[in-house]
Amino acid sequence: MKAVVCPGKELPLQVQEVAMPAAGPGEVVVAIKAAAFNHRDWWIRQGQYANLRYPVVLGSDGSGIVYEVGEHVSIDWLGREVVMNPGMNWGDSPEYHSREFKMLGLPDDGCFARYVKVPASTLFPKPTYLSYEEAAAIPLAGLTGYRALFTKGNLKPGDHVLLTGIGGGVALLMLQMAVAIGAKVYVTSGDDAKIEKAQKLGASGGVNYKTEGWHKLLQAFTEGFDLIVDSAAGDGFRNFIDLARPGARIVFFGGTQGAITNLNPQKIFWKQLQIKGTTMGTPEEFEAMLQLFDRYHIHPVIDKVYSMEEADTAIHKMENASQFGKIIMRIE
Ligand SMILES: NC(=O)c1ccc[n+]([C@@H]2O[C@H](COP(=O)([O-])OP(=O)(O)OC[C@H]3O[C@@H](n4cnc5c(N)ncnc54)[C@H](OP(=O)(O)O)[C@@H]3O)[C@@H](O)[C@H]2O)c1
Repeated sequence: MKAVVCPGKELPLQVQEVAMPAAGPGEVVVAIKAAAFNHRDWWIRQGQYANLRYPVVLGSDGSGIVYEVGEHVSIDWLGREVVMNPGMNWGDSPEYHSREFKMLGLPDDGCFARYVKVPASTLFPKPTYLSYEEAAAIPLAGLTGYRALFTKGNLKPGDHVLLTGIGGGVALLMLQMAVAIGAKVYVTSGDDAKIEKAQKLGASGGVNYKTEGWHKLLQAFTEGFDLIVDSAAGDGFRNFIDLARPGARIVFFGGTQGAITNLNPQKIFWKQLQIKGTTMGTPEEFEAMLQLFDRYHIHPVIDKVYSMEEADTAIHKMENASQFGKIIMRIE
């Protein structure tokens, strides 16, 4: 079958013929119609991820039609339109994932291929109001964003929320979810045009994080944010302590800008702030996330749809954050 293979560190993604997967007990093979890129795919291509193996078929996100079911899997799944939860083996505690937790698209081959093999337990019906491209845009980013906003962030209608780096795949889906439930959302971006686009999606305002003193500009919008969700970390993180109202939550799931430096402990404990790390989410959160999308008929923003042959051009968009919305690969 045809697949987009990541052959090695810093090497271009290539279309290759690879072996067709076969469903084992408890597994299914899904014929992929569309797949989506995540920053994770870029980190793996660049050799900046844990437990690397090459060659590997990347792609944690996909949508398609169930093509083959293995032993112990209901044949009712055959021919159904599905999306897959990219997280597997979460484990028993809703607080944190098990040691066996893994993600589709490394170590196991992912969705940048005509067919992918997954455990049947990861299947969920594709929301019928979404196209294959839109459905593929949601799983990893939607799940991460849902847990960050609601489980960890305890987001409520009317809360003042700050979402940083709004051009990011997770950030943009969080904007759409938070606006849908009636939160007041502010954003940052390194690109003024993205802030304008975010305002068209319902953001109340935003500032460019490349502007000197950007955090002071944000203070003009609100007396303090109830929730701040970030994936950049780095030096800028310390400003969130000043931007948070007393008792607020600061949730983060990435470290794109590196280590967090110079946090003022006195301000954190005096304001009784909660700083929480989060990663992906439980199967229950995945289902709740899809239900939220369905309830509000949220259509994820798509930057551009690429062919399999254009995969390496597509993944480079994440190198300099030139996208606004999810980058999609149509699987012909
Ligand atoms: N732990 C998890 O479960 C999990 C899940 C998903 C993602 N992640 C991590 O979270 C990060 C984002 O992932 P993604 O897939 O959403 O990435 P993405 O779509 O490639 O977006 C990355 C965004 O980061 C923003 N950014 C860059 N520098 C920034 C800064 N100094 N301050 C604020 N924002 C900045 C940019 O926003 P602008 O374009 O608006 O400037 C950029 O668009 C990555 O590090 C990824 O590995 C972790």
